Amino acid sequence: MPAIAVLGCMWGDEAKAKIVDYLGTDTEFVVRFQGGSNAGHTIVVEGKKYVFHAVPSGILYPGTKCVIGAGVVIDPISLVSEIQELENSGIDFNQRLFIDERAGVVLPLHRELDTISEGMLKSGKIGTTGRGIGPAYADMTARAGIRIIDLAHPSYLKRRLRELYQYHGRSLDNAGMKEVSQTLAMCWERLKGYVAPTFGMLQEAHKRDAGILFEGAQGTMLDRSWGTYPYVTSSNTLVDAIGTGAGFSARKLDEVLGVYKAYCTRVGEGPFPTEIHDELAQKIRIQGNEFGATTGRPRRIGHFDAVLASYTATLNCLDGIAVTLLDVLSGIEELKICVGYKLGKRVLSEPPAHPLDLQKVQPVYTVLSGWEEDITQARSMAALPANARIYLEAIQDLLELPVKIVSVGKQRHQTFNA
Ligand code: IMO
Ligand code: MG
Repeated sequence: MPAIAVLGCMWGDEAKAKIVDYLGTDTEFVVRFQGGSNAGHTIVVEGKKYVFHAVPSGILYPGTKCVIGAGVVIDPISLVSEIQELENSGIDFNQRLFIDERAGVVLPLHRELDTISEGMLKSGKIGTTGRGIGPAYADMTARAGIRIIDLAHPSYLKRRLRELYQYHGRSLDNAGMKEVSQTLAMCWERLKGYVAPTFGMLQEAHKRDAGILFEGAQGTMLDRSWGTYPYVTSSNTLVDAIGTGAGFSARKLDEVLGVYKAYCTRVGEGPFPTEIHDELAQKIRIQGNEFGATTGRPRRIGHFDAVLASYTATLNCLDGIAVTLLDVLSGIEELKICVGYKLGKRVLSEPPAHPLDLQKVQPVYTVLSGWEEDITQARSMAALPANARIYLEAIQDLLELPVKIVSVGKQRHQTFNA
């Protein structure tokens, strides 16, 4: 069984979990390696909707073990309630969830700092999910952060908490310390059974040739280094983050699959060259239920951007792509795909690094004819209308990569191999 990475390759919300779920029927491990509860991964099984934030979506398959790797930042309060909710809907976590000891901790302090920093940014807010992700990663990088394993060492934890508050120019009085350490102690009681050294577990599984799926969160255009900085998330989201975030070198992967929506969306601020503002955007938003799974915010909508898509395909060294939400484009007369950016007199084939330049680029479009038919029942390429096939072929040609999987609806079964 292979080791496969499933990565969001735009600005997140590409329906990664749906593809993980499609591929994961008999995989042994599903692993999250970066991000935190800023992710909102949705899977619909027999009409029932499950939303995951930190728990890998593989938990839906009873035989699958799920790992939260060292590169993830975990909000223990939110993880405890996520587990509780999933248990209430009948999911068994016993011997199935493993949290790496080295994972970072998101504290209520980080949520507060996230809100404060959004209000303070004079150059324009980022539009974060407000989950404390940026401040938590910043503290990890500054070596001031708290790790999950610290929760097992109460006096050490108290020292670290005091120093962390000092680092942020705050003092933690006795009552404050009591409150935060009691909350963490309660979370630890609930989580400690899941905390494990996951490094050896994944290496051993790989030696046995067990199936391992790595579930990306966010997307390459939100990568801290290669995305639309500063309008990005605070982790690296590229394939290489699997090595640092799960202790499993990306060199060991057998396949890297990039997930793209058939159009583009973005939630939060930042440049979006192919964004559309007319009725078409609203039609796609309603049709595709483009509202954030974590924050409920309406997502911004745009045409498929092959400039960015080729860039992210190269960054991740993709073997193939999955195209999701193709059904949402039914009933649109003309479909545009961005094939280049004009910036002044130049035509660019990759995005400029500066947000002011990316904001200024004029997309160059190729226009394709759409299709009228409802395609939600299609289960093969042959069952798609000719124009839908031509649209997928155009994406395939522009990215120079095979379309391997197509998704035509929310439900688990509305997916097929191309
Ligand atoms: P999934 O895994 C879409 C966006 C936020 C904001 C920026 C920074 O469901 O695809 P953060 O809270 O991470 O500091 O916010 O990143 N963002 C996402 N957008 N999908 C996500 O996750 C996202 N996680 C963060 O909207 O623009
Ligand atoms: Mg999401």
